[in-house]
Amino acid sequence: MQLIDLLQQRVSTPARLLVEPAPDDNQIEQIVRAGLAAPDHAAMRPWRFTVVRGEARHELGDIFVKATRKRDPDMPDEKIEGQKSKPLRSPLIIVVAAIITPDHPKTPEVEQIVSAGAAAQQMQLAANALGFGSIWLTGPNARDSDVKSALGLAEKDELVGFLYLGTATVTKAPPARAAVADHLHYWRGC
Ligand SMILES: Cc1cc2nc3c(=O)[nH]c(=O)nc-3n(C[C@H](O)[C@H](O)[C@H](O)COP(=O)(O)O)c2cc1C
Repeated sequence: MQLIDLLQQRVSTPARLLVEPAPDDNQIEQIVRAGLAAPDHAAMRPWRFTVVRGEARHELGDIFVKATRKRDPDMPDEKIEGQKSKPLRSPLIIVVAAIITPDHPKTPEVEQIVSAGAAAQQMQLAANALGFGSIWLTGPNARDSDVKSALGLAEKDELVGFLYLGTATVTKAPPARAAVADHLHYWRGC
């Protein structure tokens, strides 16, 4: 597929429709290399990529349950327990985070976060180019201090996404995208 087609026809796959085989260690390295090619103001390299697979997904599910219960003690138990299976939906998760350098003279925090977001998207596209499906998910767990801490992140750091990866069991046709005219403007001065 031409790169321009890959970019324009890219589509996410629901996490529960991603199965084995997941990217292997070599393919993970390739995907991460694509992340490391993300634009990066002042060569901050703010990225941290954490692989969660196999049994570790169960532990992450337990962490989600504990964190959800602490955040929302009134939530019904069945709903809280549903958090346990979230990481089990796909065989591989790569947690993408920005390790924030506060008060950097050139690169404000938002630019460090945007760079990590760019890395996440580079990685999704790399996974797609290698023939895998993916989806970028966040939710309250991504902003939870306990979840971040369990994944080795500090309060100041930003967990920009859980990339769920695997082989897509369905080939989704790309949905109708937004109209160019609704989003593209040519500024011709004041
Ligand atoms: C930062 C970020 C966080 C996201 N978090 C979620 C999420 O928690 N749940 C969800 O259903 N989609 C989330 N999405 C959207 C999906 O990744 C995906 O883009 C969406 O399902 C539309 O599918 P498409 O990518 O094929 O257009 C998020 C996207 C971004 C960029």
